[in-house]
Amino acid sequence: MIGSPTKLLLFLGVVVAVFAVPVPSEDKDPTRCTYDNQDYKNQSTWVAQEAFKMKCVTSENGSWRTEVISCVVPAKMRHCKDQKGCEDLHINVNDKKDDGQDMFECVSGNNQQVNLKHSKAAKADCKNHKYGTTWREGFFRYKCQEGGVIKLEACITAENSEIPLGETLKMDMYDISCTMDDNGVVSMKSKSDSSRVVCKTSEGVNKKFGEKWNDKSFVKKCSDYGVTRIVACRDDSVEEEIPVGKNVTVNGKTFSCYKNESSFALRRTWCEHAGIKYDNQSYWFDQDVFKYKCELTPNRTMGAIIVGCKTPSGKEIAIGETVEIGDTAFECTKGNVTLRSGPVKNALCLRKYKTGEEWTDGTFKMRCEPHGKTSAVACMAWNNTEISVGESKRLDGITMECASENGKVILRPKMGADCVAEDGSIKKSGDIWHEKAFVRRCSEYGYNDVIACKSGDLEIAVNTTVTTDGVQHICENKGKTFRYGHQKQAPLPS
Ligand SMILES: *[C@@H]1O[C@H](CO)[C@@H](O)[C@H](O)[C@H]1NC(C)=O
Ligand SMILES: *[C@@H]1O[C@H](CO)[C@@H](O)[C@H](O)[C@H]1NC(C)=O
Ligand SMILES: *[C@@H]1O[C@H](CO)[C@@H](O)[C@H](O)[C@H]1NC(C)=O
Ligand SMILES: *[C@@H]1O[C@H](CO)[C@@H](O)[C@H](O)[C@H]1NC(C)=O
Ligand SMILES: *[C@@H]1O[C@H](CO)[C@@H](O)[C@H](O)[C@H]1NC(C)=O
Ligand SMILES: *[C@@H]1O[C@H](CO)[C@@H](O)[C@H](O)[C@H]1NC(C)=O
Ligand SMILES: *[C@@H]1O[C@H](CO)[C@@H](O)[C@H](O)[C@H]1NC(C)=O
Ligand SMILES: *[C@@H]1O[C@H](CO)[C@@H](O)[C@H](O)[C@H]1NC(C)=O
Ligand SMILES: *[C@@H]1O[C@H](CO)[C@@H](O)[C@H](O)[C@H]1NC(C)=O
Repeated sequence: MIGSPTKLLLFLGVVVAVFAVPVPSEDKDPTRCTYDNQDYKNQSTWVAQEAFKMKCVTSENGSWRTEVISCVVPAKMRHCKDQKGCEDLHINVNDKKDDGQDMFECVSGNNQQVNLKHSKAAKADCKNHKYGTTWREGFFRYKCQEGGVIKLEACITAENSEIPLGETLKMDMYDISCTMDDNGVVSMKSKSDSSRVVCKTSEGVNKKFGEKWNDKSFVKKCSDYGVTRIVACRDDSVEEEIPVGKNVTVNGKTFSCYKNESSFALRRTWCEHAGIKYDNQSYWFDQDVFKYKCELTPNRTMGAIIVGCKTPSGKEIAIGETVEIGDTAFECTKGNVTLRSGPVKNALCLRKYKTGEEWTDGTFKMRCEPHGKTSAVACMAWNNTEISVGESKRLDGITMECASENGKVILRPKMGADCVAEDGSIKKSGDIWHEKAFVRRCSEYGYNDVIACKSGDLEIAVNTTVTTDGVQHICENKGKTFRYGHQKQAPLPS
């Protein structure tokens, strides 16, 4: 709780002087009050220390005194200081003012002193909260009370239930209370009620508080708040429970019930593989191909781990190694362990070529790779022209490429290749241009197609004849060659 004591801000006394030295003046009353090295006339006022409004009072007999007539709270010291129209607050002596947030009191006390006292107003805010409102902070609800006093009203549970201070909430298996001790410390405490506790097994069966049951390798117990705890390990071959942190040896086999901060485990000193038990550190073969070892795995349980392979002839190979037996190479692969076999590294290709040797079969240039594998390194185009895999060459006006696609090597016209006109200029696929007696177009494979023949202004489409002015024009496609011809027609006999 936050209190709001009254604060004494400032105090100021009354100054009295008798027979003050008269000041020559036209004034009927030559007496002046002196305050802070300044002279003041009878009845004049000023503000001292930014906090008190003073007044000068003179008497006929030449004495004078200063008195405090009101207290002043400068605007910059008020709550409203950042708002428009916030002014200095004047409070007459023995009066008080409440500006909503603060209560200021101007009190004349003993010894002719005047004090300015400050306390919170009755309906003052509690920090950012308005008077009378309630709010939540963490697991508690507070209310803003009179005089800016914050009062804790209730505790709030993790499930958002409110418990008024001093009360208790009944949950399924426990009670939660919201209490305050003599030092004003508030706490939320829960207490498990064993008569109401229920635990559920992994099969969904209800168990009462304190009940024990077996679940696979563990003995479980129903504890406070309905929490299931592992209290021991168990194994079908051991009659008693295996206590946590202890080793139990039965028929030469040791069980150890192991617990670290986060988990429990029943460790056995042997492994089980395909229904057979193997001792710690022992080796065996499965399918006569894989070699296994029984040992502690990184997950801290005993496990059968593959450590190698065995060839059909009985030779053992470590994981990642390769051995050559006769014409065959055996590899025990890493990762998912497999025994892989194939031709030895320097096996002949097609029974005649050595590793690294190259030859051509007319269509491709081949190379002999290790393990008797063959691969195409280039395509053989016409006129015995070699084009390496992945490259292209221009042959007889067409660009051919030797491409590798889906593991196959193929020789094909190159899509989108440029054409080269007779004058050496480059034409893009789709470009049309005139060349001698022909109209040409660059095909999508970079071939200089003929689409028409040309004579003066006349264009004759391929495979057609056009007759003008008695002259017949012929544009002929004969296989790979084009021919343009014209002849004069004999006049028809009349
Ligand atoms: C000072 O002013 C008060 C109030 O007007 C008056 O009663 C008093 O006589 C004045 N003092 C002198 C010395 O005139
Ligand atoms: C002068 O006058 C004031 C007020 O009238 C009085 O309180 C004070 O005692 C007088 N002083 C003397 C020396 O007579
Ligand atoms: C149980 O046996 C394991 C190894 O088999 C050993 O590391 C551990 O210290 C033993 N624990 C006890 C309590 O004897
Ligand atoms: C406890 O054991 C678990 C499972 O074996 C393991 O993942 C975890 O890292 C261990 N924690 C400590 C602190 O050893
Ligand atoms: C298995 O045998 C190894 C080597 O003898 C030993 O270090 C290890 O503690 C044994 N493990 C268990 C669980 O008994
Ligand atoms: C521990 O590792 C072994 C071998 O790596 C595996 O067979 C077994 O399932 C693992 N156990 C757990 C609880 O992860
Ligand atoms: C290992 O085998 C499993 C199951 O056959 C497969 O899902 C996994 O991708 C394989 N891992 C590797 C590295 O080959
Ligand atoms: C290919 O041979 C033909 C006929 O011998 C010849 O006309 C042509 O120019 C040759 N092409 C190349 C690219 O050598
Ligand atoms: C012209 O005729 C030749 C031979 O008959 C044929 O191969 C070619 O496709 C024809 N061209 C056109 C554009 O019709």
